[in-house]
Amino acid sequence: MTETRKKIGILTAGGDCPGLNAAIRGVAKTAIVKHDMQVFGISSGFLGLINKDYIELTESSVSGILTLGGTILGTSREKPFKKTGSLSIDKPKLIKEHYKELGLDCLVCIGGNGTQKTAAGLAAEGLNIIGIPKTIDNDVWGTDQTFGFDSALNIATDAIDRLHSTANSHKRIMVIEIMGHNAGWLALYSGLAGGGDVILLPELDYDMDTINNYLLKRAKKKKPYSIVVVAEGIKSPKKRSAASFIAEEIEKGTGIETRKTILGYIQRGGSPTPMDRLLASSYGAFAVELIANNDYGKMVAMVKDSITSILLEDVGGKLRLVPVEHPMLERASGLDICLGGKYK
Ligand code: F6P
Repeated sequence: MTETRKKIGILTAGGDCPGLNAAIRGVAKTAIVKHDMQVFGISSGFLGLINKDYIELTESSVSGILTLGGTILGTSREKPFKKTGSLSIDKPKLIKEHYKELGLDCLVCIGGNGTQKTAAGLAAEGLNIIGIPKTIDNDVWGTDQTFGFDSALNIATDAIDRLHSTANSHKRIMVIEIMGHNAGWLALYSGLAGGGDVILLPELDYDMDTINNYLLKRAKKKKPYSIVVVAEGIKSPKKRSAASFIAEEIEKGTGIETRKTILGYIQRGGSPTPMDRLLASSYGAFAVELIANNDYGKMVAMVKDSITSILLEDVGGKLRLVPVEHPMLERASGLDICLGGKYK
């Protein structure tokens, strides 16, 4: 008796990033061509399963999307397990019903922390789930790298590079805000790569007097300008962007003309870098091998340069923050970069 073809669903959830389409293509091509599986693309993250909004993906529907930014499936920040009121519909129940109605053997959830937490919840409710870690923040627990990070790092570093000439022309201090609501990976790596003089991370407290004295000392050494890189998630007064608050405090404390740039969503746009294309495609292909072996309830991960899988239940609700002993912090400090004054 011929074995029935496995049916898998793919969804992309949470903030978009370059590489999502490479991951979709990696899953779909490996599933269809190598394993003769059927693949369904689910629209707008978990919303698509709640609203039964999906289409069958074929080899041709994923042709030409490797280099495309964003996600052809669309995404949302829908959190099905989040109660929105006593009369709210039972979204996990709807998801389970529609998963069964579609006849899925597995659901591939491509996303960051929130997505993997929801995925773990659905796995606990009996669905066959595989998670693939993505986010420009690089803060998914259990994997050394998420795709999206390398592309955002290139964008943010290019932006910081561009600030040097204008800062030098005006003899100003330029403050740039980098995405990273909880973790400072993007700010730390782009700050180092872009020649930042001050780098502030959500993980490290900072002291304005220390920062201002450091900047005044640079001015006294006739340094014509300074570049300050701040993660959006650093401590700052409510309703104030990190960049606005820090720029104002610096200008007030040093008397040096200071300007701010909030890089925002540019960090999530455009075509993925070659590294992100490789990582996303590899994650997608590896996910399908797990499915072919009925090895569910796992998240694909990069651990010490090799692609593997970890238990999804170990990932949910955790964050991978910059540890205080991380070598990149040591390197920054060794390069006389100010990390806010409270480091070590
Ligand atoms: O999680 C990625 C991210 O870009 C964060 O760095 C940022 O704080 C957040 O998404 C923005 O969320 P949204 O796209 O919902 O505005």
